[in-house]
Amino acid sequence: MKDEAKSVHVSLPHGGGYPIVIEWGCLERLGDLFRRRSIEGGAFVLSDRTVWGLYGGAVERSLTAAGYGILERLILEPGEGSKDLATWRTALDRLVSLEDGATRSIFLMNVGGGVVGDIGGFVAASYRRGIPFVQVPTTLLAQVDSSVGGKTGVNHPGGKNLIGAFYQPRLVVADLRTLKTLDTRQLRSGLVEVVKIGLIRDASFFSYLEGNFPRVLALEEGTLGEIVRTSCEVKAEIVGRDEKEERGIRTLLNLGHTFGHALEAATGYTRYTHGEAVAVGTLCAAWTSVLLEMLPVRQYERIRLLLEGIGLPTKVPRAVTERVWEAMKRDKKFIRGRNRFVLLEAIGKARVVEDIDPSILKQALEVHLDEAPVS
Ligand SMILES: NC(=O)c1ccc[n+]([C@@H]2O[C@H](COP(=O)([O-])OP(=O)(O)OC[C@H]3O[C@@H](n4cnc5c(N)ncnc54)[C@H](O)[C@@H]3O)[C@@H](O)[C@H]2O)c1
Repeated sequence: MKDEAKSVHVSLPHGGGYPIVIEWGCLERLGDLFRRRSIEGGAFVLSDRTVWGLYGGAVERSLTAAGYGILERLILEPGEGSKDLATWRTALDRLVSLEDGATRSIFLMNVGGGVVGDIGGFVAASYRRGIPFVQVPTTLLAQVDSSVGGKTGVNHPGGKNLIGAFYQPRLVVADLRTLKTLDTRQLRSGLVEVVKIGLIRDASFFSYLEGNFPRVLALEEGTLGEIVRTSCEVKAEIVGRDEKEERGIRTLLNLGHTFGHALEAATGYTRYTHGEAVAVGTLCAAWTSVLLEMLPVRQYERIRLLLEGIGLPTKVPRAVTERVWEAMKRDKKFIRGRNRFVLLEAIGKARVVEDIDPSILKQALEVHLDEAPVS
């Protein structure tokens, strides 16, 4: 089929698993996909105002046509601000009042980006110690990363993603066509996680991205399908071997995230998207690898050129450097002197390195300073 990429399967280490359906336009047959996967009961929908406004009608029509009832819709304000315990509590209260003592089967359906998926997954994990849920990711980041692998949760004033659980969905349905309405900044940010997949696992995929990222940004169906499918295959393979990040394999997916999280925290989570902060973080991690003589400078340059070409930031504003450094030092692991970073041995090959001399990390940060004033 011309515009259809094949599904990817996640096989979990202790048995079971689930398909990730990746197609252009598959929202229209969502109900049918649920039937095929033997999903029973009525749907509790979690989405955000933007996404539901764009796709709610199509989702509802498809479910109704397949004989599913929609029991409740909880539509959130878009953005990270909704990803908190208050939203989680509201969803649980609605679930409890829906049931009203009667026993009927309910499944949760998350339609949206990583925010909706993370909260909804955690609600599904918590209610009655776990009800089935389906991810319908609508951002590139959610399609290639957050909807796959069962990391669910919410933020707490004490930290991002501090409260949560590992809980796997029954099905993931990624309709590539939904990316047409995503703004370009979000698209570029999602591409960082795709570049990360190439960097940690697959040098030829990285080369493919160097040659094809303009086609992704132009939303060419075939290229989009190729990069989402490859990213999901790699993530599925990693989750299949290390579901709960206990064996140091899933940890590799955190490339660029320690520097990135510090940059997000230092700028109050408002200046950068997650992906943009991870782009800068990835360059800092790559330069740390250069300083430790693990990675040739030429390969660092290829990474920088690709991220720059995509249109991502590659510098840290000088005005926030001290705050970034302080945020990194607040990391518990860092203070105990047993810091742990994902570094690169080559494009396509990453490994975890511990106890890096803080002066090297600081140098890596300082190489990426931008003198422009913070806007
Ligand atoms: N669970 C995991 O493994 C994992 C991995 C990476 C990131 N995350 C989490 O994911 C979250 C970020 O996810 P995100 O980048 O998808 O952000 P998001 O969910 O906030 O979505 C970004 C914006 O895009 C809008 N949007 C979504 N789909 C759209 C569409 N098709 N058309 C138009 N607008 C659309 C949303 O309304 C929102 O304003 C963070 O909370 C992060 O912690 C989780």
